Amino acid sequence: MSSQPRRNQSKFILGGAAAWGLLLVGCVMVDRTLVAPPQVAGANFVGSKKCAECHEEVTSKFHDATHAKLFAPGGNAKEIGCESCHGPGSVHVKAGGGAGTIVNPGASPETCFQCHLDKRGEFNLPNAHPVLAGKMSCSDCHSPHTGDAVAEGGTNLDGMNSTCLKCHASQGGPYVFEHEASREGCVTCHNPHGSLNAKMLKARNANLCLQCHFQQQISAGVILIGGRDHASFLPRGTCWSAGCHEAVHGSHVSSSLRF
Ligand code: HEC
Ligand code: HEC
Ligand code: HEC
Ligand code: HEC
Ligand code: HEC
Ligand code: HEC
Ligand code: HEC
Repeated sequence: MSSQPRRNQSKFILGGAAAWGLLLVGCVMVDRTLVAPPQVAGANFVGSKKCAECHEEVTSKFHDATHAKLFAPGGNAKEIGCESCHGPGSVHVKAGGGAGTIVNPGASPETCFQCHLDKRGEFNLPNAHPVLAGKMSCSDCHSPHTGDAVAEGGTNLDGMNSTCLKCHASQGGPYVFEHEASREGCVTCHNPHGSLNAKMLKARNANLCLQCHFQQQISAGVILIGGRDHASFLPRGTCWSAGCHEAVHGSHVSSSLRF
């Protein structure tokens, strides 16, 4: 029901090509995707194997990470998985490690925006998680170092919901009357990156609910939703306001999710 095509368009652009000279990163999963990793003054790429010498605990789990598939094409091709987010590591390695010699993208989303440029726009929308304000980071919801970057994989919605429930426990129930919509994922109704609509909703009106609940006009002036005439209800406001289905995540008292 919640089919959102997301792999069929290139979301990446060629970032700061001039500054990057000829260094571009390709991804085995996406043809002709060109993106630019962050920069560290005076440093070259050394490859993820080098990082393993001192960061075993990170590299040992990295093999199945979404970003492990990134590489730099060309004659001196390097698998730059780690460095796609942390920038070229030669200076850091030579110094025997230490802060200030390598990019730490936990501190700012700018590193991520470099390749996921569309996300900057989404987080700039009027209703968004406070990532730009520095109160949250992309890695609160995305695992950079292991497995699918979208928690538990885009197909495992329980896993994806559990990401949200870490901070929003009350929307997860358990409820006496569960709204089955949440099984489809919080993201059927919310865009976690940002939205024009209040509460990061994907639609500001009944269309949000009509994704799943069929609306049927059987005769003039009669609009059936869920088998009940809604013609006089619809002008009153959204489905979840005006005392109708306010317990949109689930209810302890009302099977029709009234409160
Ligand atoms: C998708 C981007 C990305 C990739 C690829 C990546 N990292 Fe990270 N790394 C981060 C982020 C974001 C943080 C900030 C910590 C956090 O929020 O989890 C971080 C933090 C770290 C830290 C600091 C210690 C810590 O846990 O806070 C180390 C060390 C590190 N990464 C090493 C690596 C190594 C080694 C690799 C390759 C095997 C790698 N990273 C690949 C994004 C990435
Ligand atoms: C010679 C050992 C060594 C190698 C090789 C090495 N590191 Fe480090 N790295 C360290 C040490 C030591 C620290 C500081 C540890 C600490 O503060 O906990 C560190 C810290 C970091 C941090 C955190 C910096 C911060 O500002 O918080 C990141 C990110 C990181 N390394 C990534 C990498 C990546 C990516 C590679 C491979 C390109 C790499 N390291 C290779 C030793 C190394
Ligand atoms: C050097 C470029 C680059 C950087 C930097 C980068 N990414 Fe990515 N990222 C990619 C590419 C390429 C893909 C694979 C796209 C695909 O498979 O559709 C990807 C995939 C992802 C996905 C999964 C997309 C999906 O459809 O499953 C997420 C989530 C993600 N990145 C988040 C982040 C976060 C968070 C950061 C910063 C910590 C970051 N990325 C930094 C290039 C980058
Ligand atoms: C509040 C949690 C949350 C935060 C914070 C977050 N994301 Fe996401 N992101 C998600 C979820 C959930 C999905 C899966 C959406 C879906 O399948 O509809 C996703 C999907 C993605 C994707 C792949 C699909 C797409 O929309 O392109 C990318 C890339 C991505 N996020 C990057 C980022 C970056 C970069 C940041 C930080 C600037 C970030 N995200 C911050 C929850 C979050
Ligand atoms: C790391 C904690 C964290 C995670 C994980 C998280 N959120 Fe949030 N969420 C927040 C914070 C902080 C706010 C902003 C609250 C505020 O501004 O008062 C917020 C706000 C919201 C709001 C708007 C609430 C309002 O009253 O306007 C919605 C809706 C929301 N988050 C949904 C989600 C969804 C869906 C996910 C999973 C994809 C998610 N959140 C994951 C911390 C988190
Ligand atoms: C069927 C659509 C739908 C689904 C699925 C859904 N939400 Fe909501 N959510 C809404 C609506 C509508 C509102 C606005 C309620 C209002 O303004 O009274 C909302 C509001 C919120 C808020 C703001 C506080 C509140 O309760 O009003 C948070 C936080 C939130 N949702 C988190 C989540 C999380 C986490 C999930 C997944 C477990 C989720 N939502 C699933 C429709 C949905
Ligand atoms: C992802 C699909 C989906 C979305 C979106 C969705 N629902 Fe549902 N809803 C369901 C399913 C499945 C059921 C349980 C089967 C049924 O009763 O139709 C249900 C049940 C309900 C019920 C209980 C019906 C009864 O038995 O009395 C109400 C009320 C309801 N939804 C309201 C809403 C509202 C309001 C919205 C929009 C904020 C919404 N739904 C969005 C899938 C969805």
